[in-house]
Amino acid sequence: MSTALERREQLKQVFHEASGCIRCPLSETRTTVVFGAGNADADLMFVGEAPGANEDRTGLPFVGQAGKLLDQLLGEIGLERDNVFIANVLKCRPPGNRDPRPAEIETCRGYLHRQLELIQPRVICTLGNFSTKLLRGDPTGISRIHGQPEVRVIGPRAVRLFPLYHPAAALYTRSMLETLRADFARLPEMLALEPPPQPQLVEPLAETVPEAAVEQPEDLLEEAAEQAAGVEQDPLVVDDDQLGLF
Ligand code: URA
Repeated sequence: MSTALERREQLKQVFHEASGCIRCPLSETRTTVVFGAGNADADLMFVGEAPGANEDRTGLPFVGQAGKLLDQLLGEIGLERDNVFIANVLKCRPPGNRDPRPAEIETCRGYLHRQLELIQPRVICTLGNFSTKLLRGDPTGISRIHGQPEVRVIGPRAVRLFPLYHPAAALYTRSMLETLRADFARLPEMLALEPPPQPQLVEPLAETVPEAAVEQPEDLLEEAAEQAAGVEQDPLVVDDDQLGLF
Protein backbone atom coordinates (compact mmCIF):
# COMPACT_ATOMS: atom_id res chain seq x y z
CA MET A 1 0.00 0.00 0.00
CA SER A 2 1.58 3.28 -1.01
CA THR A 3 0.96 6.64 0.64
CA ALA A 4 -0.79 9.54 -1.04
CA LEU A 5 2.59 11.25 -1.36
CA GLU A 6 4.13 8.25 -3.09
CA ARG A 7 1.18 7.97 -5.44
CA ARG A 8 1.47 11.66 -6.25
CA GLU A 9 5.15 11.24 -7.11
CA GLN A 10 4.31 8.30 -9.33
CA LEU A 11 1.61 10.37 -10.99
CA LYS A 12 4.19 13.04 -11.76
CA GLN A 13 6.28 10.39 -13.48
CA VAL A 14 3.31 9.40 -15.63
CA PHE A 15 2.84 13.10 -16.40
CA HIS A 16 6.45 13.35 -17.57
CA GLU A 17 6.06 10.27 -19.69
CA ALA A 18 2.85 11.50 -21.27
CA SER A 19 4.27 14.99 -21.87
CA GLY A 20 6.62 13.66 -24.52
CA CYS A 21 4.33 10.97 -25.87
CA ILE A 22 4.67 10.14 -29.56
CA ARG A 23 2.69 6.92 -29.52
CA CYS A 24 0.11 8.13 -32.04
CA PRO A 25 -0.12 10.68 -34.86
CA LEU A 26 -1.97 13.18 -32.63
CA SER A 27 1.49 14.02 -31.28
CA GLU A 28 2.26 15.64 -34.64
CA THR A 29 -0.68 18.04 -34.56
CA ARG A 30 -1.04 18.83 -30.85
CA THR A 31 0.51 21.87 -29.19
CA THR A 32 0.46 20.53 -25.63
CA VAL A 33 -0.32 17.23 -23.99
CA VAL A 34 -3.27 17.77 -21.67
CA PHE A 35 -2.54 15.27 -18.95
CA GLY A 36 -5.24 16.32 -16.51
CA ALA A 37 -5.26 18.49 -13.42
CA GLY A 38 -6.50 18.71 -9.90
CA ASN A 39 -6.08 16.94 -6.58
CA ALA A 40 -3.86 13.88 -6.99
CA ASP A 41 -5.65 12.24 -4.04
CA ALA A 42 -9.18 13.23 -5.03
CA ASP A 43 -12.24 11.18 -4.08
CA LEU A 44 -13.99 12.44 -7.18
CA MET A 45 -12.63 12.28 -10.70
CA PHE A 46 -14.13 13.46 -13.99
CA VAL A 47 -13.19 11.91 -17.31
CA GLY A 48 -14.04 13.88 -20.44
CA GLU A 49 -13.39 13.16 -24.08
CA ALA A 50 -10.38 14.99 -25.47
CA PRO A 51 -8.76 18.43 -25.31
CA GLY A 52 -10.16 21.17 -27.52
CA ALA A 53 -8.37 24.23 -28.86
CA ASN A 54 -8.20 26.08 -25.51
CA GLU A 55 -6.96 23.02 -23.67
CA ASP A 56 -4.38 22.31 -26.37
CA ARG A 57 -3.08 25.86 -26.00
CA THR A 58 -2.98 25.98 -22.20
CA GLY A 59 -2.23 22.35 -21.35
CA LEU A 60 -5.14 22.26 -18.88
CA PRO A 61 -8.40 20.32 -19.18
CA PHE A 62 -11.81 21.94 -19.52
CA VAL A 63 -10.78 25.58 -19.73
CA GLY A 64 -13.24 26.61 -22.47
CA GLN A 65 -17.01 27.10 -22.30
CA ALA A 66 -17.67 23.50 -21.27
CA GLY A 67 -15.10 23.93 -18.50
CA LYS A 68 -16.85 27.05 -17.22
CA LEU A 69 -20.08 25.08 -17.00
CA LEU A 70 -18.27 22.28 -15.19
CA ASP A 71 -16.90 24.84 -12.68
CA GLN A 72 -20.38 26.22 -12.19
CA LEU A 73 -21.93 22.80 -11.61
CA LEU A 74 -19.16 21.94 -9.17
CA GLY A 75 -19.78 25.23 -7.35
CA GLU A 76 -23.47 24.40 -7.04
CA ILE A 77 -22.59 21.32 -4.99
CA GLY A 78 -19.97 23.15 -2.93
CA LEU A 79 -16.88 21.88 -4.75
CA GLU A 80 -14.04 23.48 -6.67
CA ARG A 81 -11.61 22.17 -9.21
CA ASP A 82 -8.93 21.80 -6.56
CA ASN A 83 -11.10 19.23 -4.77
CA VAL A 84 -11.35 16.91 -7.78
CA PHE A 85 -9.19 15.56 -10.58
CA ILE A 86 -10.18 16.20 -14.20
CA ALA A 87 -8.79 14.14 -17.08
CA ASN A 88 -9.78 13.03 -20.56
CA VAL A 89 -9.84 9.81 -22.56
CA LEU A 90 -7.36 11.34 -25.03
CA LYS A 91 -4.50 13.49 -23.82
CA CYS A 92 -3.99 15.20 -27.18
CA ARG A 93 -6.38 17.26 -29.26
CA PRO A 94 -7.80 15.58 -32.35
CA PRO A 95 -7.45 18.02 -35.27
CA GLY A 96 -10.53 20.18 -35.73
CA ASN A 97 -12.06 18.61 -32.58
CA ARG A 98 -13.12 15.52 -34.50
CA ASP A 99 -14.20 12.45 -32.53
CA PRO A 100 -11.48 10.29 -31.00
CA ARG A 101 -10.68 7.26 -33.15
CA PRO A 102 -10.67 3.72 -31.74
CA ALA A 103 -6.92 3.33 -32.33
CA GLU A 104 -6.21 6.62 -30.50
CA ILE A 105 -8.37 5.58 -27.56
CA GLU A 106 -6.61 2.24 -27.38
CA THR A 107 -3.16 3.82 -27.57
CA CYS A 108 -3.94 6.40 -24.90
CA ARG A 109 -5.92 4.26 -22.45
CA GLY A 110 -2.85 3.20 -20.47
CA TYR A 111 -2.38 6.78 -19.24
CA LEU A 112 -5.95 7.03 -18.00
CA HIS A 113 -5.75 3.66 -16.29
CA ARG A 114 -2.57 4.66 -14.51
CA GLN A 115 -4.20 7.92 -13.43
CA LEU A 116 -7.14 6.00 -11.97
CA GLU A 117 -4.85 3.53 -10.26
CA LEU A 118 -2.72 6.26 -8.66
CA ILE A 119 -5.39 8.82 -7.77
CA GLN A 120 -7.72 6.12 -6.41
CA PRO A 121 -10.99 8.07 -6.66
CA ARG A 122 -14.08 6.64 -4.98
CA VAL A 123 -16.39 8.10 -7.60
CA ILE A 124 -15.64 8.53 -11.30
CA CYS A 125 -17.95 10.67 -13.39
CA THR A 126 -17.64 9.87 -17.04
CA LEU A 127 -18.64 12.86 -19.15
CA GLY A 128 -20.33 11.86 -22.40
CA ASN A 129 -20.19 8.81 -24.58
CA PHE A 130 -16.50 8.24 -25.12
CA SER A 131 -15.38 7.96 -21.51
CA THR A 132 -18.57 6.15 -20.50
CA LYS A 133 -18.16 3.48 -23.15
CA LEU A 134 -14.46 3.12 -22.46
CA LEU A 135 -14.70 2.75 -18.70
CA ARG A 136 -17.83 0.58 -18.74
CA GLY A 137 -16.40 -1.57 -21.53
CA ASP A 138 -19.82 -1.51 -23.12
CA PRO A 139 -21.33 0.36 -26.09
CA THR A 140 -24.48 1.55 -24.26
CA GLY A 141 -24.98 5.23 -25.01
CA ILE A 142 -24.98 8.02 -22.43
CA SER A 143 -28.61 9.01 -22.93
CA ARG A 144 -29.69 5.56 -21.71
CA ILE A 145 -27.50 5.37 -18.63
CA HIS A 146 -26.68 8.90 -17.43
CA GLY A 147 -27.44 9.36 -13.76
CA GLN A 148 -27.30 5.63 -12.98
CA PRO A 149 -24.41 4.93 -10.61
CA GLU A 150 -22.90 1.47 -10.56
CA VAL A 151 -19.97 -0.23 -8.90
CA ARG A 152 -17.39 -1.31 -11.47
CA VAL A 153 -14.00 -2.91 -11.13
CA ILE A 154 -11.55 -0.88 -13.19
CA GLY A 155 -8.00 -2.19 -13.15
CA PRO A 156 -7.30 -3.40 -9.62
CA ARG A 157 -9.99 -1.31 -7.88
CA ALA A 158 -13.72 -1.13 -7.47
CA VAL A 159 -15.17 2.37 -7.94
CA ARG A 160 -18.55 3.99 -8.17
CA LEU A 161 -18.99 4.95 -11.79
CA PHE A 162 -21.48 7.71 -12.48
CA PRO A 163 -22.10 8.49 -16.16
CA LEU A 164 -23.10 12.08 -16.92
CA TYR A 165 -23.90 14.05 -20.02
CA HIS A 166 -20.94 15.94 -21.40
CA PRO A 167 -21.10 19.63 -20.37
CA ALA A 168 -20.38 20.68 -23.97
CA ALA A 169 -23.59 18.96 -25.08
CA ALA A 170 -25.53 20.56 -22.22
CA LEU A 171 -24.33 24.04 -23.26
CA TYR A 172 -26.74 24.08 -26.15
CA THR A 173 -29.73 22.07 -24.91
CA ARG A 174 -31.57 23.43 -21.91
CA SER A 175 -33.29 20.16 -21.02
CA MET A 176 -29.94 18.36 -21.06
CA LEU A 177 -28.46 21.04 -18.82
CA GLU A 178 -31.24 20.56 -16.29
CA THR A 179 -30.71 16.79 -16.39
CA LEU A 180 -26.97 17.25 -15.91
CA ARG A 181 -27.61 19.61 -13.00
CA ALA A 182 -30.00 17.12 -11.38
CA ASP A 183 -27.46 14.30 -11.81
CA PHE A 184 -24.72 16.51 -10.35
CA ALA A 185 -26.88 17.22 -7.31
CA ARG A 186 -26.65 13.52 -6.38
CA LEU A 187 -22.87 13.59 -6.13
CA PRO A 188 -22.57 14.71 -2.47
CA GLU A 189 -24.71 11.78 -1.33
CA MET A 190 -22.64 9.40 -3.48
CA LEU A 191 -19.38 10.76 -2.08
CA ALA A 192 -20.68 10.25 1.44
CA LEU A 193 -21.15 6.51 0.87
CA GLU A 194 -18.58 4.03 2.11
CA PRO A 195 -16.10 3.11 -0.64
CA PRO A 196 -17.26 0.00 -2.48
CA PRO A 197 -15.79 -3.31 -1.26
CA GLN A 198 -12.51 -3.95 -3.00
CA PRO A 199 -11.73 -7.14 -4.92
CA GLN A 200 -9.45 -9.56 -3.11
CA LEU A 201 -5.83 -8.87 -4.00
CA VAL A 202 -4.11 -11.88 -5.44
CA GLU A 203 -0.46 -12.00 -4.37
CA PRO A 204 1.70 -12.08 -7.52
CA LEU A 205 3.98 -15.08 -7.75
CA ALA A 206 7.60 -14.21 -7.00
CA GLU A 207 9.28 -13.40 -10.28
CA THR A 208 12.88 -13.76 -11.17
CA VAL A 209 14.03 -10.27 -12.03
CA PRO A 210 16.80 -10.07 -14.62
CA GLU A 211 19.98 -8.79 -13.01
CA ALA A 212 20.19 -5.65 -15.16
CA ALA A 213 16.74 -4.56 -14.03
CA VAL A 214 17.70 -4.58 -10.37
CA GLU A 215 18.96 -1.27 -9.05
CA GLN A 216 22.45 -1.83 -7.76
CA PRO A 217 23.41 -0.46 -4.32
CA GLU A 218 25.91 1.91 -5.97
CA ASP A 219 23.10 3.45 -8.06
CA LEU A 220 21.03 4.01 -4.95
CA LEU A 221 23.98 5.55 -3.11
CA GLU A 222 24.70 7.84 -6.05
CA GLU A 223 21.04 8.82 -6.18
CA ALA A 224 20.98 9.56 -2.43
CA ALA A 225 24.15 11.64 -2.73
CA GLU A 226 22.69 13.59 -5.64
CA GLN A 227 19.48 14.15 -3.75
CA ALA A 228 21.40 15.36 -0.70
CA ALA A 229 23.32 17.75 -2.96
CA GLY A 230 20.02 19.00 -4.39
CA VAL A 231 20.70 17.66 -7.87
CA GLU A 232 17.55 17.29 -9.94
CA GLN A 233 17.13 13.60 -10.78
CA ASP A 234 14.66 13.95 -13.57
CA PRO A 235 15.84 15.67 -16.73
CA LEU A 236 12.34 17.09 -17.19
CA VAL A 237 11.57 19.97 -14.88
CA VAL A 238 8.42 19.34 -12.88
CA ASP A 239 6.11 22.28 -13.18
CA ASP A 240 3.38 21.70 -10.64
CA ASP A 241 1.42 24.73 -11.82
CA GLN A 242 1.23 23.32 -15.29
CA LEU A 243 0.43 19.90 -13.92
CA GLY A 244 -2.16 21.40 -11.65
CA LEU A 245 -1.54 18.87 -8.90
CA PHE A 246 -2.30 20.31 -5.51
N1 URA B 1 -14.07 18.68 -23.68
C1 URA B 1 -13.47 17.59 -23.14
O1 URA B 1 -13.96 16.48 -23.22
N2 URA B 1 -12.33 17.76 -22.52
C2 URA B 1 -11.75 18.94 -22.37
O2 URA B 1 -10.70 19.00 -21.75
C3 URA B 1 -12.41 20.05 -22.92
C4 URA B 1 -13.56 19.90 -23.57
